[in-house]
Amino acid sequence: MAETIPDLRGIPKARAYLELKGHSDAILEGISDDVTAMATIAALVQHAFGHLWTGFYRAVVPGQLLRVGPYQGSLGCLEIPFGQGVCGKAAAEGKTVIVPDVNRFPGHITCDARARSEIVVPVLDQRGDLIAVLDIDSEQLDAFEEDDREGLERLVSWFATTRQ
Ligand code: SME
Repeated sequence: MAETIPDLRGIPKARAYLELKGHSDAILEGISDDVTAMATIAALVQHAFGHLWTGFYRAVVPGQLLRVGPYQGSLGCLEIPFGQGVCGKAAAEGKTVIVPDVNRFPGHITCDARARSEIVVPVLDQRGDLIAVLDIDSEQLDAFEEDDREGLERLVSWFATTRQ
């Protein structure tokens, strides 16, 4: 395999995410392993967009505790209880959370002081149960919008549709 990661900065996000989903599906063809998929998706998203941190927190105790999984970037916090921080909120509510300015989000958990904005997307299995969240941090304020939510939710739909 000699896949490279495309640089998708500067092209319209809807198109960028379509391209990324194509890459991701091609690379993960024949794979049914969650860790492999998480590592691959984290690397693709982080480098295609030049984010500060991209990675997964896994629901190791459903409804109670998230623990860090494959990621790209500086050291992530290891465990986050459901309901705490941006990740815990997305996990508890089962909904994507976009935070334009982390300093204005009460209870935001700081892993890297350079982070300015954040998006967290729930990752569901075939039954619709939450297995993880995908967390992305940016050094720019207001880096994430509706197109990111749609594109990232489609990207992680691999876990609901393709995984065995
Ligand atoms: N900021 C997150 C914690 C995880 S780190 O950003 C990698 C939060 O508030 O949940």
